[in-house]
Amino acid sequence: MQASTMHTRVLTGITTTGTPHLGNYVGAIRPAVAASRRDDVDAFYFMADYHALIKCGDAARVERSRLEIAATWLAAGLDPQRVTFYRQSDIPEIPELTWFLTCVASKGMLNRAHAYKAAVDRNVESSEDADAGVTAGLYMYPVLMAADILAFDANQVPVGRDQIQHIEMARDLAQRFNHLYDHEFFILPEALIDDQVATLPGLDGRKMSKSYDNTIPLFAGGSKALRAAIMRIVTDSRAPGEPKDADASALFTIYRAFASAAESAAFRQALLDGMGWGDAKQALYERVEADVAPMRERYVSFMRDPAGIESILQAGARKARAIAMPKVAALRAALGLRPFGAVASAGKSPVARTDKLPRLASFRDADGNFRFRLFSGQGEELLLSVGFPDPQAAGVVQKWLKALGAHAAVLQVQPTNVSLELDGKAVASTPDYHDEQTRDGALARLREALAQLATTV
Ligand code: TRP
Repeated sequence: MQASTMHTRVLTGITTTGTPHLGNYVGAIRPAVAASRRDDVDAFYFMADYHALIKCGDAARVERSRLEIAATWLAAGLDPQRVTFYRQSDIPEIPELTWFLTCVASKGMLNRAHAYKAAVDRNVESSEDADAGVTAGLYMYPVLMAADILAFDANQVPVGRDQIQHIEMARDLAQRFNHLYDHEFFILPEALIDDQVATLPGLDGRKMSKSYDNTIPLFAGGSKALRAAIMRIVTDSRAPGEPKDADASALFTIYRAFASAAESAAFRQALLDGMGWGDAKQALYERVEADVAPMRERYVSFMRDPAGIESILQAGARKARAIAMPKVAALRAALGLRPFGAVASAGKSPVARTDKLPRLASFRDADGNFRFRLFSGQGEELLLSVGFPDPQAAGVVQKWLKALGAHAAVLQVQPTNVSLELDGKAVASTPDYHDEQTRDGALARLREALAQLATTV
């Protein structure tokens, strides 16, 4: 509870098609890493690799890009302990929610999405069929993106201006769904546009973008490639000794994105005093390299250890699913997709619903860890949880149990007790019983209690 009042949940996705360049670093990675360090921010950053499939049919490229992007974000200082960092394709609740949202999405709204409309306009202009070459994936792009956001109750979504329409569509879908099913299932997200963040010009002075082929690589090719690209930045033809206008130069804009105010002022003055473009480029290279070199070193070691990145991302997926699973389970129930058993027992005995319900009780143990117990309706202790370092983590597991009950929980039956696993991790266990018969009786009561718990949400 405290978590939601004190923290703003900030969520953003990174489409995994290219190799990160300097513009991505300054415009997205650096500010996102900085935001994730704030105490009032609960950051969710993920690799939008399902979205990548829409733009790219090249499996090797998608695969390479998601590894490079994961390594880049980690090298840039993202702390996976603090941030929930994961791959979209590791969260099956996202495509499931995409379908639920698809069923309330109006086709007319999707017709108006910029990317789709641009494709249609191009076709019409070249007298093709309006939908020639348009996949349903491109058409559904905004719905998948809405599911990314709504599955996690994100408050703010930092994006570029070209994505504002998508956030508006996510809000529209959330509102429609809440209205149709008459419950505030979804929080309405807001686009977060940071005007302080620099948009870097590329080699030719236009916005740095892989579609203009004017990028400066962040890590790829090492310091040599960085220097070589900087040397190719287009300048005017003023000779050394002639005064140069810093504000008209892409070089200066890039310099300023890395330098302090004092360094930038000195650079501006040097240009005005006639510093040659060659020297200016060397100074720019040195300034950028000073920031990039230590990150590049970390990047190289991450890239050498894909299994290490994999386990970081798996841990991230577990954290993310602890939120998305109960959410989607509650939606399934609201949509009429409950398991039959749950529906039957919910309707069976109204008496049991009022005074014989199982209940969860939280407490703090002698070591300061947070735990909970599950009691049957008759007051029998059925489960004791493991210790959690903070009450939020204990709360998430309880929420999960309530939403999913017996379905998500795997009960591992041991000779004298039963432990309960969620997503492969033991989270609670029964007391020790002296024989298997007693254990089996308790197991039956535990199953019943879990099923009842799930029908009371
Ligand atoms: N469409 C975004 C982009 O191209 C990437 C993205 C996918 C995203 N899902 C998201 C961004 C969810 C924010 C939230 O930049």
